[in-house]
Amino acid sequence: MARLLVIHHTPSPDTHAMLHSVCDGATAAADELGGDLEVVLRPALAAVVPDVLDADGYLLGTPANFGYMSGALKHFFDTVYYPCLDATRGRPWGLWVHGNNEVDGAALAVQRIVTGLGWSAVRPPVLVVGSPTVDASERLWELGAVTTAAVLESCS
Ligand SMILES: Cc1cc2nc3c(=O)[nH]c(=O)nc-3n(C[C@H](O)[C@H](O)[C@H](O)COP(=O)(O)O)c2cc1C
Repeated sequence: MARLLVIHHTPSPDTHAMLHSVCDGATAAADELGGDLEVVLRPALAAVVPDVLDADGYLLGTPANFGYMSGALKHFFDTVYYPCLDATRGRPWGLWVHGNNEVDGAALAVQRIVTGLGWSAVRPPVLVVGSPTVDASERLWELGAVTTAAVLESCS
């Protein structure tokens, strides 16, 4: 069975809704494609090295905090970076970021670290400022769906 790991920091109702949009897209795509996929959710503060090693692809979600990713997601990278370096190279991944005014710094910070890990981006990050609109929710759903498709493809 293919495994998609969703690592997220979800501190509010809006970010919770965003997480659900992404996961809905992931499970809908697995159903549509007839793929055998397990979607594993881990809060960023709870994710550990075996979660990352045992997954076939990754979705990361974070709020912007002080122009950077959340401390929780940074803690995740501090925990898993070296133990997972090389072993996870090339795996597909996607990112969403939420903020109330400026989210580019957070997205770039995540992308810089993931470039080091050598994961393969399925599409540009989904960036949402303010409460998620219908359009934003659709883009999050699609992010979940295309990441699922990439994971299933990589496992076929
Ligand atoms: C300590 C702190 C720092 C923040 N820094 C940023 C920031 O740099 N850019 C931004 O767009 N939003 C920033 N925010 C807003 C958060 O991204 C936002 O509260 C989070 O995504 C949850 O959104 P919500 O509470 O509006 O649902 C910050 C919030 C906090 C608590």
